[in-house]
Amino acid sequence: MKRILFILICSVIAAGLQAQDVIIPIFTNDNLMLLQTSRDGRLNTVYFGEPLKNESEYKEVARRYNFRDNNAGIYNATYTTAGTWNLVEPAIEVLQSDGNTSLELKYVSHTQEKTDDNATLTIIKLEDALYQFSVKLFYKTWTDLNVIEQWTEIEHSQSEAVVLKKFASANLFFAGNDFYLTTYGSAWAREMQRNEEKLTRGIKSIDTKLGTRAYLLQSPNFIISFDNKAAENTGSVVLGQLAWSSNFRYVFEIDSYENLRFIAGINPFASEYTLQPGETFKTPSLVYVVSHNGTGEASRNLHRWARDYRVLDGNGERLTLLNNWEATYFDFDEDKITSLFKDAKELGVDLFLLDDGWFANKYPRNSDNAGLGDWEENKKKLPNGIGHLVSEATKEGIKFGIWIEPEMVNPKSELYENHLDWVIRQPERPEKYFRNQLVLDLSNPEVQDFVFGIVDKLFTDSPELAFIKWDCNSVIYNAHSAYLERENIPQTHLYIEYTKGLYNVMERVREKYPDVPIMLCSGGGGRGDYELFKYFTEFWPSDDTDPLERVYMQWNYSYFFPSIVTDCHVTDWSDLPLKYRVDVASMGKLGFDIVAHELSENDMQFAKEAVQNYDAFKDVVWHGDMYRLVDPYKNDFAALMYVNDNKSRAVVFNYLVNFRYMLTASILPVKFAGLDSDKKYALKELNVYPGHRSWIDSEKTYSGDFLMNVGINPNINLRNMSVILEVNEVK
Ligand code: DGJ
Repeated sequence: MKRILFILICSVIAAGLQAQDVIIPIFTNDNLMLLQTSRDGRLNTVYFGEPLKNESEYKEVARRYNFRDNNAGIYNATYTTAGTWNLVEPAIEVLQSDGNTSLELKYVSHTQEKTDDNATLTIIKLEDALYQFSVKLFYKTWTDLNVIEQWTEIEHSQSEAVVLKKFASANLFFAGNDFYLTTYGSAWAREMQRNEEKLTRGIKSIDTKLGTRAYLLQSPNFIISFDNKAAENTGSVVLGQLAWSSNFRYVFEIDSYENLRFIAGINPFASEYTLQPGETFKTPSLVYVVSHNGTGEASRNLHRWARDYRVLDGNGERLTLLNNWEATYFDFDEDKITSLFKDAKELGVDLFLLDDGWFANKYPRNSDNAGLGDWEENKKKLPNGIGHLVSEATKEGIKFGIWIEPEMVNPKSELYENHLDWVIRQPERPEKYFRNQLVLDLSNPEVQDFVFGIVDKLFTDSPELAFIKWDCNSVIYNAHSAYLERENIPQTHLYIEYTKGLYNVMERVREKYPDVPIMLCSGGGGRGDYELFKYFTEFWPSDDTDPLERVYMQWNYSYFFPSIVTDCHVTDWSDLPLKYRVDVASMGKLGFDIVAHELSENDMQFAKEAVQNYDAFKDVVWHGDMYRLVDPYKNDFAALMYVNDNKSRAVVFNYLVNFRYMLTASILPVKFAGLDSDKKYALKELNVYPGHRSWIDSEKTYSGDFLMNVGINPNINLRNMSVILEVNEVK
């Protein structure tokens, strides 16, 4: 049901209402969250679910609940405070300027208005009657897409500083049901390992404390499903992530009435924040999408939101590439690199990406234990510099991109020797390294200038540079900042100031270089969030490029990110045939990291044709709607498809995931989705390996109705391990 939004500006005093009369609907097309003030002026969440048809009945909702225990009336607080009579997990906890630990927030006013990017912004002001302390709750809703972005601003006007001990972005409340939670544990090369569980009484919390490379062990992505486990086409789900590139903490609390309280925000671990009078503390956003028709619809809406409103150039183009990391590691020189340009040209990709190892002279970057921080070209390896490589690549007809890891330093580097105070380290304790390196202190504006300067110099020296891979391999150990100490700023600000420093740098980079594509990489998938996607065009999901692992990993990432941001490279991580590897990488943004000139003749011919095919269908994969069709966790194969906006074109990917002997993995046909049932379509198999014949009869046409209700059997088996089908409307 389409809802007509109007600008509403309310205030209790202006409207002459009693506090308990105030009802604030936060609605999208398919969902309604009702907030309502209580008799004593507190703000509660009284409803979350499908929209109620009659607004006149909103006020009836709160009366239906009998939460009678002494303090249960506070379970559904919209932003739960600590220090008075609340005994459940708080969203905010403060130490007032006089040392008092109590806070009670009452509704003051709210506004609701359309913003210029098709969204509605609701701002609710809450205040403490005793202390000069206020909180604003922000809800930005993209109505058509059912996406909500929620954050908080905290202020006070007490004469001395207030210490924020906890400061959540969102405090959601869902009244009693069965609740299931899907989260994703990670490790290097094992990103996004799915874990689904039923939430039971008590608290489940997930968090990270790693600072940088924050998601190495735990991804911030989550799915909450109501009543049943998350399903693709049925059921209510809330799916999202905290858009914050550092430590986060989620608390899922099933209260004594079986309600779910979900509190999400910056991890308060080692992060007490001293807030000065008049200063505003803005939390990061919790971004989530709601669907009452399962995870498929939720993902498609979130993808569209990401492309339309969040990811840099989300509806634009991307560059296919050849990367040299696994082809050479640190062992290369100018000749070796320029010879690889020919491979890139031969494959037909857009760009060559020079990875780690191109810089540092006093401590040359010949392994990961030296040179980080010294960003001049290594004279031995690249005597003619990066500029020469860029012009050689241009002569070859391809673009050139480069790897950097500007937030880090090896102790064996000139940077470390000259700027020890720029390094995050405990001055009196032994250093502890992660991949032989330490993290630079981005809370320090001088370090921000240095990091910006690395990017700026690269583009100033070589304006035709076409791509950057921005890596971040280390977590923060021994969190201590010489800069904060010098400035008399508490050390507990470090994680937050670091992250803000990173955003500052990216703002500057994007102000000067708005268009250049930049890949977000963090030793694989240690980063990847909707705050950094304001600045990055894509991300590197994992160093694990084994295509079988990638089927699962890309499947899991697909709940949260559109394909256009998901970089997928063909490598030698597996003995599976090149066709399988290329087919899997083709459902994201395609790249290669192989020694192409060593491919067999057939493999090379196949790879070249696959790049051409990819170029012809990438528009559908990058900008179309994605449907997960066959779940690899429940079947011997996986299938998913992408459909363009006017349903005239689609691409269907099928991959075997169980390699034990069986006659066929696809016993049943795969039912397509997202097509127009009245349209007629023809099928064509793509990426057919040289010498093989496709069994698909491309002369035959099928109705969308047939394809979606009966389907097509891709005949996936041990001899036919991956099948890509192109679906085209026939008029
Ligand atoms: C980690 C990245 O994930 C790899 O792709 C590669 O760029 C290395 N770093 C280089 O050190």
